[in-house]
Amino acid sequence: MNFGKVAVLLGGKSAEREVSLKSGGMVLNALRSRGVDALPFDPAERGLDALIGERFERAFIALHGRFGEDGTVQGVLEWLGIPYTGSGVLASALAMDKLRTKLLWHAEGLPTPPYAVLTKDSDLRAVARKLGVPLMVKPASEGSSIGMSKVRSAARLDEAYALAVNYDRVVIAEKFIDGTELTAGILGDQVLPLIKIETPRDFYDYEAKYIADDTRYIVPCGLSAGRERDMQALCLKAFRAVGCRGWGRVDLMLNRQGRPFVLEVNTVPGMTDHSLVPKAARAVGMSYEDLCLRILEAAHVG
Ligand SMILES: Nc1ncnc2c1ncn2[C@@H]1O[C@H](COP(=O)(O)OP(=O)(O)O)[C@@H](O)[C@H]1O
Ligand SMILES: [Mg+2]
Repeated sequence: MNFGKVAVLLGGKSAEREVSLKSGGMVLNALRSRGVDALPFDPAERGLDALIGERFERAFIALHGRFGEDGTVQGVLEWLGIPYTGSGVLASALAMDKLRTKLLWHAEGLPTPPYAVLTKDSDLRAVARKLGVPLMVKPASEGSSIGMSKVRSAARLDEAYALAVNYDRVVIAEKFIDGTELTAGILGDQVLPLIKIETPRDFYDYEAKYIADDTRYIVPCGLSAGRERDMQALCLKAFRAVGCRGWGRVDLMLNRQGRPFVLEVNTVPGMTDHSLVPKAARAVGMSYEDLCLRILEAAHVG
């Protein structure tokens, strides 16, 4: 397929800029190695309207977090008429907002951990009583576990709220699901094999994601084939409920009884050599290069 001149959008100005530079750099190399006329484009350095002046015909979005994963860049590309990878404007914006994503999942009857919205006026003790401890406190719109904490007692909730609110006005407290962490890479209509994530840390935090070398990624994930298929189907439903398309990744937890709870959907998941979607693709024999091409092939406007 001839893609024409392709911009790999990378960097940007979110808290996840550094990760995006890595993801985008790798995507760029992979596309070039397959003969695609791909060039890097960092929206933190140049206005996106330059894409038109420079005659780009497609965009591979490798921006994580705000101003890239959240529908804003998708909106500009729609307006410019340049086909782009992944979810559209609405789904990108919804998926960036963990609170609204949960509201949708509730409406669809999909399982997600019980939660409460925290404000500066919340009665934190009452929240802890209602949901029970431990709790996860998180900014509604951030990624890479930034601003999140696991809280074991009501007395620590203030601190966790104060940290999270630095990243977003909207903060949620979620019941901590103690059990197994899984993630599902999605490529078009296909759900890739689930990956089980194990860390000796409190949870899969920034350190465990990007720095520690003792995080374990296990594929096959150890569920029976039937259970894995059920969980994959649940993840695809969760992805579609938000209106996502193209590619992405759904994070979920299984409690000790094996009950699933969907945590969030990522519309531009990491694409570094350590990242989860490339690992899951490899498990079905798909190379990193082929994965990038598949994502690019599905680029769209409208
Ligand atoms: N309700 C929860 N119960 C248990 N662990 C959680 C919960 N919410 C988040 N976590 C842990 O925190 C990590 C990051 O949370 P997540 O909601 O996926 O946000 P992010 O956008 O930062 O990846 C998860 O991968 C998981 O390890
Ligand atoms: Mg996550």
